[in-house]
Amino acid sequence: MKKITVIGSICLVFLFSSDRAWGKNSCISCHQEQTQSKRLEHNYADWKKSIHASKGIGCDACHGGHSDTFNPVNAHEGVLSSRDKNSPIYFQNIPKTCGQCHVEELKEFQKSVHYKLLEDSGKGPNCLTCHGSMATTILAHSQLDQTCSLCHGKPIQAAKALSLIQSIKNSLDVLQKKKGQYENKEKITEFWARYREIQKKWHSFDIAALTNKSKELLKEIKEFEKKCK
Ligand code: HEC
Ligand code: HEC
Ligand code: HEC
Ligand code: HEC
Ligand code: HEC
Repeated sequence: MKKITVIGSICLVFLFSSDRAWGKNSCISCHQEQTQSKRLEHNYADWKKSIHASKGIGCDACHGGHSDTFNPVNAHEGVLSSRDKNSPIYFQNIPKTCGQCHVEELKEFQKSVHYKLLEDSGKGPNCLTCHGSMATTILAHSQLDQTCSLCHGKPIQAAKALSLIQSIKNSLDVLQKKKGQYENKEKITEFWARYREIQKKWHSFDIAALTNKSKELLKEIKEFEKKCK
């Protein structure tokens, strides 16, 4: 019984790590061959390298259409140009499209000045401004200048906040490695949960609140480390 489960899991891993798992998805199968077009914002090769591809998320998740038919007309039904207001990839519709899955990030983003600007005048950033359409960039604090100053001054406070978030992550990685030595393991789990929450809160761009929350957590982590030494 155990043996069968093990063989089963190996087969599953193999299926998902090979392109055969995508054989039934017509977007992937057909676009694999479409490498020439200059109109393509990104193509199969870009997608293939992306985190979304590795998590089993195909073209249709963001573009719509019908991935269960190989007839190009039927498959492209609902796949609209990024210039079309009704397209899921029209710049003002981007947050909703990405937010289908990134629910918390969307919820926080909707509280921000950025979102209001995007809705009202179209002048705020959307998810692509900072992540790219294949979400291949997670900005580090050292990269903020370039992106944020497209529209305003040097984001000094934001860069500090992001650097705090990074310090939390680094401290937690160290704690995680030594987890066996600590008695109160639940506390470490709680720290991770609070870190994830802060990451998502970033998208409200309430930098003051974010900074306070981050400092608080970092302080508690340091105290925990000291107490348990
Ligand atoms: C049978 C082949 C085939 C299938 C199936 C297919 N495509 Fe395409 N697709 C193409 C070709 C060819 C083009 C035109 C490329 C060009 O502009 O030169 C295209 C264009 C596109 C474009 C650009 C449209 C535009 O207006 O600029 C998008 C986006 C797209 N496909 C997404 C998808 C998605 C999502 C699916 C699955 C639901 C899909 N395709 C299924 C062949 C296919
Ligand atoms: C995570 C979401 C996501 C996935 C997955 C994705 N795309 Fe896109 N795609 C976008 C976004 C967003 C844009 C618009 C980019 C912009 O406006 O800068 C875009 C633009 C395009 C364009 C240019 C069309 C236009 O109207 O501007 C083509 C063609 C395209 N994608 C094809 C594909 C194909 C083929 C796949 C799968 C192999 C795929 N995309 C997977 C989000 C995605
Ligand atoms: C169908 C669901 C789905 C859609 C639509 C989607 N994503 Fe994702 N995205 C995921 C999953 C699953 C991951 C893998 C990490 C995870 O589990 O959170 C991911 C990862 C990411 C990451 C990297 C996170 C990290 O920790 O490395 C970013 C950034 C991201 N997505 C942004 C976007 C953007 C921007 C869009 C819209 C253009 C988008 N996503 C659309 C499901 C989705
Ligand atoms: C103005 C820039 C900016 C915009 C707009 C933006 N993000 Fe982010 N995003 C970031 C930065 C910076 C990080 C890294 C935060 C960190 O280190 O934890 C991040 C992290 C992420 C992550 C990974 C961490 C996590 O929360 O799990 C995801 C997923 C993500 N963003 C999705 C989105 C989505 C979806 C949208 C649109 C609704 C969006 N982002 C809009 C800058 C932005
Ligand atoms: C596409 C343009 C654009 C980009 C890119 C952009 N912003 Fe903004 N942002 C604005 C505008 C416009 C305002 C409102 C006017 C102002 O305060 O300058 C704003 C306001 C803000 C505010 C004030 C929010 C409040 O509640 O008052 C913060 C903080 C902020 N941005 C942070 C960032 C950070 C950090 C980045 C980079 C990761 C960034 N912005 C990238 C356009 C942008």
